[in-house]
Amino acid sequence: MIETTGTANVALLELRGVTAQYGKIRVLHGVDLVVPRGEVVALLGPNGAGKTTTLLVATGQHPATSGCVHVAGRHINGAKPDAIARLGLCTIPEGRGVFRNLTVRENLVMASYRGVSANEIIEKAVARFPRLGERIGQIAGTMSGGEQQMLAMARGLATDPGLLIIDELSMGLAPLIVAELYEIVAGIAREGVSILVVEQFARTVLGVADHAVIMQHGRAVAAGTPAELEAELSAAYLGASI
Ligand SMILES: Nc1ncnc2c1ncn2[C@@H]1O[C@H](COP(=O)(O)OP(=O)(O)O)[C@@H](O)[C@H]1O
Ligand SMILES: [Mg+2]
Repeated sequence: MIETTGTANVALLELRGVTAQYGKIRVLHGVDLVVPRGEVVALLGPNGAGKTTTLLVATGQHPATSGCVHVAGRHINGAKPDAIARLGLCTIPEGRGVFRNLTVRENLVMASYRGVSANEIIEKAVARFPRLGERIGQIAGTMSGGEQQMLAMARGLATDPGLLIIDELSMGLAPLIVAELYEIVAGIAREGVSILVVEQFARTVLGVADHAVIMQHGRAVAAGTPAELEAELSAAYLGASI
C-alpha cells in the first residue's frame, strides 16, 4: 500500500512503526495509524498517551526517531511542515490556534493564500458557519469556545485541505456544542475531506468516525470501527464515563 503512490486509493496519511522522543525520553514506541481517503478517523486515548506527539510527527513539527510517515503516498520523514501542508494536510492545534486579539474577519483574511482571495475565504466561511457571519467584526478571543472552534475550522478549510487534523476538538466545550461541531465535521467529511480527530473522551466522535485508533503509553493498542472498539474503549479509560 505504501509504495503504490499516485493511485486514488492510497491512504492520505500512514504512520508505520513511528517512534519519537523528547530529549532522551521516548514517548512514541512504534505507532501505526492509517487515514484512508475520505474517512473520519478518531485517535483516542488518555492524557499523555502520545496523541499530540503523533500529530506533530505526522505534520513534520516533531521528528520521528524511526519508522515511516507517508502523506498521500509520499515518504515525508524529515520534510518541513510547510512542504507537508502543501500536500494537503491542515492541522488545528490543541487550543485552536486562532488569533484571540484579532477579529473574526482578520483571522479569516490571514488564512488567505496564493490564488484565493480574502473575500472568497470569508464567503465560504460564512456560508458554512453562519454564526461567524454574525460575528465577523468581533474579537475572536471574546467568542465562546465553540465559536472559536468554528473559526479555527473555517481557517483550516480555507486552504482546501485533503486531510483536516483536529487536536482535541471538544476540549472545554459543552456536550451540546460538541454534538453540533461533530455534525459539521460529518458534513465536511461528506464533501470528501478526510479527517483525523484526536479526542480524550470519545463518545460523540464515535458517532461520525469510520475508524478509531486507541493510544496508550505511546502505542496504538487497538484499531477498528467504533462498534468493534466498544470493549477496548471501556478498558482504555478504566471505566471512566465517556
Ligand atoms: N515538549 C515536550 N517535552 C517533553 N515531554 C513532552 C513534551 N510534550 C509532550 N511530552 C510528553 O510526551 C508524552 C506524550 O504527550 P502528548 O503527545 O502530548 O500526549 P497526549 O496528546 O495524548 O496527551 C507525555 O508523557 C508528555 O509529558
Ligand atoms: Mg494532546
